[in-house]
Amino acid sequence: MTIVSLANDVKVAKVIQQVTQIATLPEVTAKIIQIVEDPKATARDLQNLIKHDVALSAKILKVVNSAFYGLPRQVSSVDRAIVLLGLSTVKNIAVATSMAKLFNGRELSKRFTSRQLWQHSLACGVFCKLLAQARKMDNVDDLFVGGLMHDLGLVVEKQVFSKELGEVIEKAWKEKTDLNTLEQETFEADHQAFGIALATKWKFPHLFQLTTGYHHQPLKASEQYHEITSLAHLADVLAMRKKVGFHMENTPIDAEAIKLLGLSDEQIQEVFDAFDEKYAAAEIVMN
Ligand SMILES: [Fe+2]
Repeated sequence: MTIVSLANDVKVAKVIQQVTQIATLPEVTAKIIQIVEDPKATARDLQNLIKHDVALSAKILKVVNSAFYGLPRQVSSVDRAIVLLGLSTVKNIAVATSMAKLFNGRELSKRFTSRQLWQHSLACGVFCKLLAQARKMDNVDDLFVGGLMHDLGLVVEKQVFSKELGEVIEKAWKEKTDLNTLEQETFEADHQAFGIALATKWKFPHLFQLTTGYHHQPLKASEQYHEITSLAHLADVLAMRKKVGFHMENTPIDAEAIKLLGLSDEQIQEVFDAFDEKYAAAEIVMN
């Protein structure tokens, strides 16, 4: 199944080729995704892989034992964590952990640092999780990571067009214009196109391709994905409103997409109010 047509664009493909030489997904993360996406794979396969990566094992245990997952008892082995949380959640922790590394580096623009983009990304992940919980969806953890990586395309642009990206962000901020339009003018594509192309190249699950590729224009995805893309859109809008780290004052809002999520104003307000505590917990474990 292909979600992308954007990635076929020659310009995007060229940029992605460049960026994969600079930013590589840690090999262990790629293997974890492969295992979890393979219907024949077992918990044992994942255990064997993670066991050999001490840093990753330690990180997984830190996350598992944090308030973010709120398990009743201390978990001391990765094997046990996989049993308790499932393959998919452990995969998500591994992916989220390797995402953090990509946001290292210098400033994003005069106004924002890469670290602030990471904070915004984490905020969007937390909002995705809260919104998914409010809607009683069953892929809450996947959506957390999907939100976390929604602006992957900005990381791509930063790697390839560092100086120009800084200028584009400053211009969008000062002139209160839409960032995506300015990106189109400057790079012939926006960060959604770069994001989905890299997520596809890295063989990320479809959900991650959707959040990176359509969080600004959720209804441009095919209809069966509107629920996910609209949720990512609303999460991004709320994260911008919280002004955690990187944010644009004038990101266009797609009211029709938000409406199709079927959340009442009160429910959205509840999510907004629940955010601060959840974000603080997420920040402690993800850093
Ligand atoms: Fe974005």
